[in-house]
Amino acid sequence: MSKLTSSPAWLALAEHSKEVAPLHMRDLFHNDPQRFEKFSLESGGLFFDYSKNRITEKTMELLLNLARESGLQKRIERMFSGEKINVTEDRAVLHIALRNLDKNPIMVDGEDVMPKVNAVKEKMFKFSDEIRSGERVGYTGKAFTDIVNIGIGGSDLGPVMVCNALKDFGHQRLTMHFVSTVDGDQVMSTLKKLNPETTLFIIASKTFTTQETITNARTARKWFLDRVGNEAHIAKHFVAVSTNAKSVAEFGIDTDNMFEFWDWVGGRYSLWSAIGLPIAIYLGKHDYQDLLHGAYTMDEHFKNKPFEQNLPVIMGMLGVWYINFFGAATHLISPYNQSLHRFPAYLQQLDMESNGKTVDLNGQRVDYSTGPVVWGDAGINGQHAYYQMLHQGSQMVPIDFIASVEHPEIPEPHSTILMANFFAQTEAFMRGKNETEVRAELTKAGITGEAQDALTPHKIFEGNRPTNSILIQRLTPRRLGALIALYEHKIMVQGTVWNINSYDQWGVELGKQLAKAIEGELTTPGLTSTHDASTNGLINYYKRNNPR
Ligand code: F6P
Repeated sequence: MSKLTSSPAWLALAEHSKEVAPLHMRDLFHNDPQRFEKFSLESGGLFFDYSKNRITEKTMELLLNLARESGLQKRIERMFSGEKINVTEDRAVLHIALRNLDKNPIMVDGEDVMPKVNAVKEKMFKFSDEIRSGERVGYTGKAFTDIVNIGIGGSDLGPVMVCNALKDFGHQRLTMHFVSTVDGDQVMSTLKKLNPETTLFIIASKTFTTQETITNARTARKWFLDRVGNEAHIAKHFVAVSTNAKSVAEFGIDTDNMFEFWDWVGGRYSLWSAIGLPIAIYLGKHDYQDLLHGAYTMDEHFKNKPFEQNLPVIMGMLGVWYINFFGAATHLISPYNQSLHRFPAYLQQLDMESNGKTVDLNGQRVDYSTGPVVWGDAGINGQHAYYQMLHQGSQMVPIDFIASVEHPEIPEPHSTILMANFFAQTEAFMRGKNETEVRAELTKAGITGEAQDALTPHKIFEGNRPTNSILIQRLTPRRLGALIALYEHKIMVQGTVWNINSYDQWGVELGKQLAKAIEGELTTPGLTSTHDASTNGLINYYKRNNPR
């Protein structure tokens, strides 16, 4: 048994889970009129109700004991002070420095990183102001109308999610485009719509070696040059965001047109860095700073609040409860704001690339489950697709419901109907519908006797299915910043309990290595025989049938 699974806090939870398993949330609510007040809190403009979870006060006490026993407080301090907690890459983990609004220095290798963070911010704001005002123009003197971000993973998902979520705050003249996949279709169909005179390309890649991004960037550059015919105009239309100045220069982008960030910003935590340039251009300085401010507020909350009132800690430990003591393997994110429909995809990378690990910080294979499969889409669509399984299927899927209270742009009755569904679903997952209720309903509908007996089991909802509800007053840059930071810290909490490194991603490397080798084989004539029978068979099928 590992240190974790043999620890007193873990063993106490294992024992306690046997007491909680037979309890139904219906009864817990019935027996405690204060349950909602006890298990809800507000921070950073986010109201968090976690009362519809399979917990008692003792559960929370034991979960927080486990958090304490795992050294969470110390690890939070180590992260915030710039210690190299990403041990396998020997790097600090300092996305928090990118939204650090107090004047405190943050030291890495004896250097305060804040002056260079602030210098890049100023450069971003100057550039975005100029694009927005029309002061900076394309090669024929026209103002930019289209911004194309070419990047993938963390160099795409954050900006695309935020620009979608905050489109009410976006600049009217600007249309944002995001190109990530290498299938060629996405880049070609995007380029088809564009005028080179008024298009700005942002090539976003931390490493500037990512094959998909560099390939798409080359295609965009060729498209541009084919139409413009003059290399000198590249400087006005292509900028780069990267940590790798050498490769940026080799690609042909002047490093004056490069926005820098640093190895202590993880790709999936990078929207707060220069990777956020499309966001800054679209929203403008004020709203972009507000986004950072929201995240900063959550950082302060996370760093300073006792665990009992600490939102990311509570959220993280609830996840641990279900994953490790109830066998939950997945976690659904269900936003009831269409503008947040890319939030689940964003969280997929954030969570699964961070906590999808099976080796602990001591290099030992873990004997407990770690990060869940994170999935989801706009909740209201989910209701008409996969909610059936969530209500009556055989697996427990904890769900985060997210919605805003005010929808100023939306005419009634849309938001009333939307929110009625939000509340109804969380109630349904909690209460369910028992046999007595089903039979009463059927009797009322005139279905009795054998027909009723036959139908009843199919119409029973067990309920007792856990949900968190997050209500945001209005989805503003500040609230969104707090929401994203909440999830970042939740993931950190869980990674700490599981004693894994949430900040590396070696698991993405093998596929990249193999793809490089296979790329050569696909363009070499003759059959391939260097792999297993399946891979050879598939490659050869493709080669035989590919008309090129
Ligand atoms: O392959 C995974 C990954 O390395 C992510 O961690 C990262 O966000 C993404 O690729 C893009 O990397 P880059 O910004 O270096 O192009």
